[in-house]
Amino acid sequence: MNFAVGPTQLHPQIPSIAQDFLTSSLASASHRSSAFQQLYANTVEELKTLMGIPQNYEIYFDASGSSLFERVILNLTTESSHHFVSGSFGEKWFSYAKLLGRRVEKTSIKSDFSGYELPEEIDTDSLICLTYNETSLGVKLTPKMLQKFRQKFPNHLIALDTVSAAPLIDFEWSDIDSTFFSVQKAFGMPAGLGVWVVSPNALKRGLALIDKYPLHQGAHNRISDFHKNYKTYQTPSTPNIMGIYMLCEICKTYNHLGGLSYLKKINEQQRAFFDKEISEINGLEFSITNSDYRSKTIAVLKYAEPKRLIEALKKRDITISKGYGDFEEQHIRIGIFPHHEMESIRHLIEALKSCLN
Ligand SMILES: Cc1ncc(COP(=O)(O)O)c(C=O)c1O
Repeated sequence: MNFAVGPTQLHPQIPSIAQDFLTSSLASASHRSSAFQQLYANTVEELKTLMGIPQNYEIYFDASGSSLFERVILNLTTESSHHFVSGSFGEKWFSYAKLLGRRVEKTSIKSDFSGYELPEEIDTDSLICLTYNETSLGVKLTPKMLQKFRQKFPNHLIALDTVSAAPLIDFEWSDIDSTFFSVQKAFGMPAGLGVWVVSPNALKRGLALIDKYPLHQGAHNRISDFHKNYKTYQTPSTPNIMGIYMLCEICKTYNHLGGLSYLKKINEQQRAFFDKEISEINGLEFSITNSDYRSKTIAVLKYAEPKRLIEALKKRDITISKGYGDFEEQHIRIGIFPHHEMESIRHLIEALKSCLN
């Protein structure tokens, strides 16, 4: 049983989906073939249906969430980006922008994790970079907070990292211009695929930049190349076709079950049970005390001896994640994703109780 924050437990259908792919002609098809074009088109349709992505947004495939940290900075900034940082992944994105030579500014989340003191002004050209679900600390932005960003900075491009939450999202698409995620977390898939969602506004800005600053966007998977290829559902370079196939099938499965409302209902049931049980276990405590700001997929718990607990669970064949970075000796992290069965979550709780008694 794997409750790591990702890569995590595979969705139970993955082995049969993988088998179907490997025995199909798609497994050795070219990314210029009509079979691939059909797959790309289907995946876009299923993903848009599942996540409510507007029809006029484009969807591109890359290697991972981190590769999209870079892609977003390269393609959507001229000189500067402003990062709102609530933990290590926001910090990492900030450091990518710095390494890429952008002028970077940072605003850190308030110490009670209730959000950000929004700056009076941000350079009009700056890209605003936000982390929706900070996997290191288990803190999440609320739809209201995202709405405030949009109201305060209506003309800025806003990019949102949704890596450890997607497809489980609750914001309005009109509040952001671009998002990206990888699939080894809440989709329950093997790692190796990053997905980039780009609004018409972000695309327009990216395309204008390449004319003005031709060297700013690097060489690989530039937004202009993505866009040109997207028109015929192709990709600039050979993509992870198996990953795209799996993504399409997982989205199809969830869409048949009721889409995002189904996922939200499952998550509510999981968390109502999990959070209540955790609150009754002595010695474990949510690191984010206000549940409004608590991640719905990543539970970060304070515990005095994380290593011992992780080892004890391992002996019961249960994997969880250690605390991130400086919090290795203070936290454990548990991924609760829609494909985790309630029965497994009950089993995890029982194991936690018995390890802690
Ligand atoms: C919030 C967040 N952003 C970005 C990343 C990087 O994604 P990837 O591991 O797919 O490169 C992670 C990975 O855990 C993450 O949790």
